Amino acid sequence: MTGTTAPHRVLVIIPTYNERDNLPLIVGRVRAAVPTAHLLIADDASPDGTGQLADHLATDDPHIHVLHRPGKAGLGAAYLDGFDWGTRHGFDVLVEMDADGSHQPEQLPSLLERVTDGADLAIGSRYVPGGAVQNWPWHRQLLSRGGNIYIRLMLGIPVNDATAGFRAYRTTSLNTLALDDVESQGYCFQIDLTWRAARAGLRIDEVPITFVERAIGSSKMSQNIVLEALWRVFRWGINSRLGRLPRTTP
Ligand code: GDD
Ligand code: MN
Repeated sequence: MTGTTAPHRVLVIIPTYNERDNLPLIVGRVRAAVPTAHLLIADDASPDGTGQLADHLATDDPHIHVLHRPGKAGLGAAYLDGFDWGTRHGFDVLVEMDADGSHQPEQLPSLLERVTDGADLAIGSRYVPGGAVQNWPWHRQLLSRGGNIYIRLMLGIPVNDATAGFRAYRTTSLNTLALDDVESQGYCFQIDLTWRAARAGLRIDEVPITFVERAIGSSKMSQNIVLEALWRVFRWGINSRLGRLPRTTP
C-alpha cells in the first residue's frame, strides 16, 4: 500500500456494561490515538447510566455512535450487532476493544498497520514475544494461559492468544465467516471467531500488546462464561477430529 491510497474507514466497537467511569477515558484516548477512526459504543442497557453518558458524548462528536441494546446479552451478541452496524455503514476495518483501559488505544495503530499490510485479522496478543500482562491476579493469569493451552490442544489453531479481545478485522473477510450462526455468547465468542477465521484460511497476524488490568470498575467474567468456553471448545475439537465439522461451520 502506498501513501496515496485512501485511508481505511475504521470503526472501533466498544461493548459496555456498567463502565460509566471508564467510558470518557477510553473514548478520549481512542480519539487522540487514531483521530480519523469512528467509535461505536454497544451498551446493554447498563443500570449505571453508561448508555446515557455515551449519548451525551455522541452529541458533541460526530465520530461517536451509540447502539442501545435492550439488556445484558453477553459480549458476543453485542459485537455481532456492532459488526452489522459497521458493515451497513461502510466501514472497511472493524476493531474490538474493551472499555476498561486493558487494551491501550495507543497500540491500535500497530494492529491497523497489519490490516493495511494484508492481514484479514490482526490480534493484539499477550502471548507473543513483546506481549505482556500487567496487574492480573495469579488466578486470571492461570485461567488465560491454561485456556490458551486447552484451545491449542483441542483445536490446533496456530494462535497464541485465541481469547484476546483487542482485534482488527477486515470487514469483507469477517463477513465471510457465516456470522449468522454464531452461538457463542460470552468471551468464548473470541475463540469462536478465531477458529472460524483459521478454518477459512484467513491471514491472522498476532501483534504484541501490553494488557493492563482495569483500575476502575469490575470484570464481568463469570463461571458461566468459563464453562461455556470449555464446553464449546470441547465440542468443536471432537467434531473436527471425527471429521464432522460443527453444525455452525461456515
Ligand atoms: N454490551 C456488553 N454486554 N458488554 C459487555 C458484556 C455484555 O454482556 N460483558 C462484558 N462487556 C464488556 C465490558 O464492559 C468491557 O468493556 C468488555 O466487555 C470486557 O469485559 P471485562 O469484564 O473487562 O473482561 P475481562 O477483563 O474480565 O476479560 C478480558 O479478557 C478476556 C480473556 O482474555 C477481555 O479482554 C475479554 O475480551 C477476553 O476474552
Ligand atoms: Mn477487563
